Amino acid sequence: MKRARSLVAVVVLVLGSLSSAQTAVGRDAAIEARVEALLGKMTLAEKVGQLNQYSIERKTLDQDIAEGKVGSLIYVTGAEETNRYQRIAVEKSRLHIPILFGFDVVHGYRTIFPIPLAIAGTWDPRAAQEVARISAVEASAAGIRWTYAPMVDIARDPRWGRIAEGAGEDPVLVSRMAEAYIRGFQNKDLSQPDSVAACVKHYVGYGAAEGGRDYNAVDMSEARLREVYLPPFLAAKNANVTSFMSSFNTLNGLPATANPYTLREVLKNEWDFRGFVVSDWNSIGELINHGVAVDKRDAARLAMRAGVDMDMNSGNYIEYLAGLVRDGAVPEAELDDSVRRILRIKFALGLFDHPYIEDKREASVQLTAADRAAARRIAAESLVLLKNEGDVLPLKKTGTKIAVIGPLADDASTMLGNWFAKGQASEVVTILQALRARQAQGDAIVFAPGGEVTKSTARDIAAAVAAANAADQVVMVLGERGDMSGEAASRSDLGLPGDQEKLLETVVATGKPVTVVVISGRPLVLTWAAEHVRALVEAWLPGTEGGNAVADVLFGDVNPSGHLPATMPRSVGQIPIYYSALSTGRPVGNDARYFSGYIDTNNEPLYPFGYGLSYTTFTVSDLKISPATANHGEIKATVEITNTGSRDGSDVIELNSTVPKGELAHPERKLVAFTKVFLKAGETRKVEMIVPRESLMVADRGEKLQVLHGTYRFFLGNEKRAELEASIDIPAPELKTVGAKSSIVTPEKPAPKHTD
Ligand code: GLC
Repeated sequence: MKRARSLVAVVVLVLGSLSSAQTAVGRDAAIEARVEALLGKMTLAEKVGQLNQYSIERKTLDQDIAEGKVGSLIYVTGAEETNRYQRIAVEKSRLHIPILFGFDVVHGYRTIFPIPLAIAGTWDPRAAQEVARISAVEASAAGIRWTYAPMVDIARDPRWGRIAEGAGEDPVLVSRMAEAYIRGFQNKDLSQPDSVAACVKHYVGYGAAEGGRDYNAVDMSEARLREVYLPPFLAAKNANVTSFMSSFNTLNGLPATANPYTLREVLKNEWDFRGFVVSDWNSIGELINHGVAVDKRDAARLAMRAGVDMDMNSGNYIEYLAGLVRDGAVPEAELDDSVRRILRIKFALGLFDHPYIEDKREASVQLTAADRAAARRIAAESLVLLKNEGDVLPLKKTGTKIAVIGPLADDASTMLGNWFAKGQASEVVTILQALRARQAQGDAIVFAPGGEVTKSTARDIAAAVAAANAADQVVMVLGERGDMSGEAASRSDLGLPGDQEKLLETVVATGKPVTVVVISGRPLVLTWAAEHVRALVEAWLPGTEGGNAVADVLFGDVNPSGHLPATMPRSVGQIPIYYSALSTGRPVGNDARYFSGYIDTNNEPLYPFGYGLSYTTFTVSDLKISPATANHGEIKATVEITNTGSRDGSDVIELNSTVPKGELAHPERKLVAFTKVFLKAGETRKVEMIVPRESLMVADRGEKLQVLHGTYRFFLGNEKRAELEASIDIPAPELKTVGAKSSIVTPEKPAPKHTD
């Protein structure tokens, strides 16, 4: 085929940057003046009131608001209801300070998109930005101007159910996704009525819970914290996020909600963050359970001193803070700083100038046809084709009878995922509905649920086998129910729940070609399926339009382009397993027996981070990195990619780098930049990427992040491209010699004091 050669250089700016119109949080002089003027009028009680967030389960709520005791409300939604509470705050309280309404708009408000792990699987930050923008328009019309998203917890243990809510195992992918969500939620101007303040969570280290057990202890070195878990939060701060949420876990013995090192020293001082920190739900009250607070008053003191500005629904701040300030246990200056940070965001949102929601708008912007179309497109883009033996996919639309088997094929509520906000199961298109809608009349779909997610009787399985025998092709929809991932949903066994493995094996034994579509909130252990079925597709929890998205991919209307955002293990025993691991002194393959691996399994993952197939094929060539010596300025990578197949399609270019030798051991490779390109069949394109210096940084001497000096070897991520390589040097800065002596001042001659 004559190859269309377009030498269009695609310059992909991978750095999260403030949109030009946006003023960085805390740096708008007019807002600062209004904050100071208001703060100067506030009583101690009114200051404490701003730090208090309630949910609506309070009989005295109206009175509390009128008395200035409620700075924020959570879980109140709808223009009518939010306006009602807002009128009390603005018209009845002494200083007329508006309420900040918060809600978990994590992957959609009424139109529910795939879970964030799936959106990360698109490797397309534009998708995340689009999800956030559409969600912000729907949520803000319902009175929500603050969302608890993006969740950026690095997750390398799929037993942890909340891996579903984040963007996977790698700090560079997670950082780019975080920046995109923040751009989408906060838009160019936070004061616009359809902008929503983002809250990055859960600060910090929550995804490293021991054993993958939710809320469990976290222990890690400063180096690991700096290199892996903090970077996405710094990226969020640099993308102008307005707030952080402190997490439930302890970090090296200190609860994250009472941790002055992470909250004050790193976030507020070192990073100069000027937004505010909200605790997680009652995480202040839980300081007692952690054994660090003797009572609620002590818990309030510890959290306040550590740097938590707003109390999510524990009631401890409103109850005890004023007394703690009067007793001198909490300096009023710290209380003022917290109030300042919260008022700053309320002014930036325009709440003082436009506190009420125009209620006519709400219904008209929910679940529009355009929103549905976006949800369908993004869900299809998030699906990961893991196997396609003999090109059994795409399925033929006519002339073939399809049996649809599995307990999740027609399960609407599971498609909505974990944070389904105002999404309705009744509005979901299930996979069965979508496949039926595609089949020409003559080829009716045969359906057998094969039992429930956790139980299949002999009769269920027999009915499924009968359906398979009556068909030419089998599509099995297997996996987890929606409530089996997300918060408080850690699993010790990551196989298909219940009797689904048995159901699968029995149907495969019929000899019919079986395609398995996996519905899950995490990477599952799919080892048997991977070895025995013809095609395997990870569909995650794909949202309101999930059924249509799956059908679009299965029938080839969409060419799958998802890539795994987290490693898929061969067994639970391999966990934690992730691509950017250290080599150890005895790497796998180093010796027949004495190596760091397991003697009872293949030590490779079932499918690696970044893996994903397409209905077409791509080749890459001519990887170049410049400049050759890069001790300052931009580092650029160019590579040529060709779509060598007969279908248009998209592919992800994952640029990896080695790390020069340092004092500490470092991963053998790490992702430094990526981009997604669409190529028509036969097209060749030269792609250019900018490599952010931050992504080259590792924690080394003194466990501080730094760019090590030495040679960086770059190559493309997925295994099939590792042969391409290009390198650069980042030399140590020359020591400027002054006269004969180096410019390093010897201890006996202290440096001249500059008095400027
Ligand atoms: C939770 C979650 C947090 C969420 C908050 C409010 O327990 O940990 O992610 O934002 O409560 O719903």
